[in-house]
Amino acid sequence: MAGNLTLTMIKPTAFNKNYTGAILKMINEAGFTIKAMKLTQLTPQQAGTFYAVHKGKPFYDSLVSFMSSGPLVAVLLEKENAVEEFRNFIGATNPEKAEEGTIRKLYGTSLQQNAVHGSDSDENAKVEAEFFFSKLERF
Ligand code: TYD
Repeated sequence: MAGNLTLTMIKPTAFNKNYTGAILKMINEAGFTIKAMKLTQLTPQQAGTFYAVHKGKPFYDSLVSFMSSGPLVAVLLEKENAVEEFRNFIGATNPEKAEEGTIRKLYGTSLQQNAVHGSDSDENAKVEAEFFFSKLERF
């Protein structure tokens, strides 16, 4: 059975452009409930750990540098079948290829700076939720 949690990050560029409010509004209106949320800045080491699965890929170093370049908003979300629903909702990884009306199409500026993250499996949603939030910070 599919899980009901997914982890998103409003990435540094989208946060810096003040898109946070608009993005959270879209997320809530799509039926996702916020279970935990924080504004934080990752160290390069923390960003490297978060994206460890991509280590060795040509875009890894640049991605780690970007994701630690400024504040981001981490949000734990709940909805039935959350991982798949959220990935469909935000659109393709590359904003240029994302469907009209999706968050990445509306607010992404490049393949790397694609506005938001979305967990790619229930297992990773759990790992990523624990990466950002203690039990006391989850509702
Ligand atoms: P990936 O896990 O493939 O995409 P998604 O975020 O849709 O699950 O990649 C992680 C992030 O890495 C992606 O959001 C943007 C960045 N990225 C690049 O900068 N260049 C690339 O060629 C790819 C595939 C991803």
